[in-house]
Amino acid sequence: MAILGLCGSLRRDSHNRQLLHALGAALPPGLRLEIFEGLAAIPPYDEDLSSPPAVLALREAIASADAVVVATPEYNSSLPGQLKNALDWASRPFPDNALRDKPVAVVGASTGLFGAVWAQAELRRVLGAIGARVVDAELPVGQAGHAFDDNGGLIDPALRQTLEEIVSELITKIGLEACC
Ligand code: FNR
Repeated sequence: MAILGLCGSLRRDSHNRQLLHALGAALPPGLRLEIFEGLAAIPPYDEDLSSPPAVLALREAIASADAVVVATPEYNSSLPGQLKNALDWASRPFPDNALRDKPVAVVGASTGLFGAVWAQAELRRVLGAIGARVVDAELPVGQAGHAFDDNGGLIDPALRQTLEEIVSELITKIGLEACC
C-alpha cells in the first residue's frame, strides 16, 4: 500500500519534508511513503485551463494512493499559497475529485513555538470541504530547526507518540475504506 506525501514547502531543506521522512520511517512493513515532487510545477488555478499536465500528475498520484499525508508549514498564520492552490486543482471536478473519501492526515512544522497549528487547522478544514476523510489529530512540531536528531527522527518522545497515533489512525481509515 502506498501513502502519498505532499510537502507544503518547496524549500530544499524543508523541515516539513524532514517530517514526512520521519513519518515514512514510522510506517509498518507493507506501507510505503512516496513524496509528490511536482508541486512547484502546478500553475495558478485557472478555470479556463482544462487539465495542465502537472495537475493531471497530481490528481493521478492522489487517486492511486491509498492515503495522503500533507505536511504544511505556516505562512502568516495560514497554509502556503502553493499548497492551497494545488488542493484547489485537486478538488475539481467536484464532488467526484481524487481526494473524495480519501484518508488524509495533516502534520506540520514551523520554526516558531507553535508548530504550524493554525495552518494545520485550516488545512484540515479545507480538506474536509473537498470531501477527504481527515484524521482529527494534529502534529505540531515547533522550533523545527532543533526538533530532529541526526537520523531524521523526532527528538521529543511525545511528538513521536503522536506521530505513531496519526499513522495508526490513518491505517484504520484505509482499512475501513477498503472494507466499506
Ligand atoms: C513563515 N514562518 C511562520 N512560522 C509560524 O510559526 N507562523 C507564521 O505565521 C509564519 N509565517 C511565515 C511566512 C512566510 C512567508 C515564511 C517564509 C515563513 C516561518 C516558517 O514556519 C518557517 O520558515 C518554516 O521553516 C517553513 O517550513 P519549511 O520550509 O522548513 O518546511
